[in-house]
Amino acid sequence: MADILLCDDEKNLRDLLSLALEERGHQLQEAANGAQALKKLASEEWDLFITDLKLPDLSGLDLLRRAKQLAPDKPVILITAHASAATAITAMKEGAFDYLEKPFSIEDLHLVVTRSLEQGALVRENVQLKKIIQEKEAQREIIANSRAMRHVLELAERVARTDASVMVTGESGTGKELIARYIHDHSKRSHGPFVAINCGAIPENLIESELFGHAKGAFSGAVNSRKGVFVEAEGGTLLLDEMGEMPLTIQASLLRVLQERVIRPVGGTGEKPVDVRVIATTHRDLMQEIAEQRFREDLYYRIHVVNFKLPPLHDRREDIPLLVVRFVDTFAKRYDLPIKGVSPEVMDCLSRYPFPGNIRELQNIIEGAVSLTTSQQVELTALPEQIRHYSPRSNAEAADLFKLPAEGMDLEQWMLDRELSAMNQALERAEGNKTNAAKLLGLSFRSFRYRLKKLNLEE
Ligand SMILES: Nc1ncnc2c1ncn2[C@@H]1O[C@H](COP(=O)(O)OP(=O)(O)OP(=O)(O)O)[C@@H](O)[C@H]1O
Ligand SMILES: [Mg+2]
Repeated sequence: MADILLCDDEKNLRDLLSLALEERGHQLQEAANGAQALKKLASEEWDLFITDLKLPDLSGLDLLRRAKQLAPDKPVILITAHASAATAITAMKEGAFDYLEKPFSIEDLHLVVTRSLEQGALVRENVQLKKIIQEKEAQREIIANSRAMRHVLELAERVARTDASVMVTGESGTGKELIARYIHDHSKRSHGPFVAINCGAIPENLIESELFGHAKGAFSGAVNSRKGVFVEAEGGTLLLDEMGEMPLTIQASLLRVLQERVIRPVGGTGEKPVDVRVIATTHRDLMQEIAEQRFREDLYYRIHVVNFKLPPLHDRREDIPLLVVRFVDTFAKRYDLPIKGVSPEVMDCLSRYPFPGNIRELQNIIEGAVSLTTSQQVELTALPEQIRHYSPRSNAEAADLFKLPAEGMDLEQWMLDRELSAMNQALERAEGNKTNAAKLLGLSFRSFRYRLKKLNLEE
């Protein structure tokens, strides 16, 4: 079923064709001359345009060109009298799908219409797919303008060359999965599969078979055998997302697999060797989990060969403007909107907001703002209220807000964490210039250097 726009000056022929096409379930719009057709091409919904080549006012070729301008991927069929077959061939070169030479049978008509619609759908699907692929590729490009992120990427490239297990930690939405993919893409395994599994999202009784597979009939409900993600990722990389959520019993099996490099499918008899690089992520503090006996220490050291800590977005504000530009571009393309960027006020506002949800939050905010924007630029009014009206608390106020936890705290560690965050941010803002960073913190250069050493920040 399609919306068809039909243009012919002969009323009889128009009626005949309309009737035949409507019988097949299509919806018809009619135009009796070129001027009417031009109007309807621009104002009506149509999937296919059929036009006579010879019209009283315009040539069918003009209409064809206009149709192709308006909708390059929608098919156009021309109707021509015998004498103008040569023009019809020119028309094909200009992008017409096909032509019907008078006199033609209704069967011929249906045949050409069906083929053209199928082709049109294919072309559109292709365009859509290309868009998705481009978007996916753009999404994989990591924005790393800040010192902290440039450092992370350098480390990722180095690690990618090895086969070591990697642990990526960081708050929710900081780009843990993105870094995992980056490591895979830059490794010698990049031609192999990248398989991700979210350990927190799978019911406990199914994790083992998800990971290592199961034999047919291994448990009730196991109607068929299953490969498991270790086998699916053979020759490539396996991302164990949110590994902190993995139950202790599975942690034991996983440790064995990582040590022996063989898996035993649930209910199966044999062992299967596997060649898989494992990258794990978590937003939890695994040391804490170990202390509370929710995570195995031996597994921790197995996976933790290299550790990446992704800084929260508020510690790398230099990345915000580029991320904003990238996300505006992505969503404008996705929703087919002519948006070019954001107003300086929007950029200013976003540069101050602390983003507790990190990059994912920024991404969601931009998606919302883009979808509300009808002009070429995202304005302040498109941002959610709590962001527009966000005002940072003063230090004194923040100190007032501090509440000593009921169970007490480690003050030394707490102060060290804050010192580290302040030092990092100062270095970031001063682009590595230590004199300026010291000034930002109200420290003498000597005292600044002493802290660099103490906090292991000299690199
Ligand atoms: N540096 C970056 N440059 C561009 N896009 C980024 C960057 N970091 C993260 N993103 C995008 O932000 C979103 C969140 O990233 P990702 O899913 O990797 O985070 P995560 O740490 O795994 O989050 P969660 O803890 O919620 O699973 C993704 O759409 C990702 O493409
Ligand atoms: Mg994730």
